[in-house]
Amino acid sequence: MPWSAVLGVAGAATKFMKNHRNPSFLYVCLGNICRSPTVEAVARTEFARAGLSVEVASAGTAGYHVGHGADPRSVRFAAAHGYDLSGHRARQFRREDFAAFDHVLAMDRENLRELRSLAPADAVPMLFLGDAEVPDPYDGGDEDFEQVIALARSGVAAWIARLRG
Ligand code: 4NP
Repeated sequence: MPWSAVLGVAGAATKFMKNHRNPSFLYVCLGNICRSPTVEAVARTEFARAGLSVEVASAGTAGYHVGHGADPRSVRFAAAHGYDLSGHRARQFRREDFAAFDHVLAMDRENLRELRSLAPADAVPMLFLGDAEVPDPYDGGDEDFEQVIALARSGVAAWIARLRG
């Protein structure tokens, strides 16, 4: 068998394995202290409620807040809706995440641009909301943090429907 065929089989096996474990999602924003940890917490709770075994995590394209907990405003608004962000620790996105997660989902177009600049040829990062953004609440007010929860909930509901096919 030529080496190209061996490599082809190995590649197919890798894809097979990736596609047959629980689907995994990485949510990505800028700082990994407001939007993506909120979506991660909503997803963890709602996927479990829906009876779906899914792996979820989050990261930021920037390293400003690495090791920090979630923004206290995000923690508070999430808690008011029954989602726990208290154990979150921010981490920065790394290129290897494209291989480790089935779905790398950006909160806004700026995050998506950043991800595309890092993506290997076979990686297809997308917007979490398909064609809409989760706006950055960091310099905003309470209503902006509330909106993140609402968008997280509707986005996760759409992904649950999609996984159920
Ligand atoms: P996030 O929000 O991307 O939703 O976590 C932000 C957090 C921090 C900053 C910007 C956005 N910052 O500039 O420090």
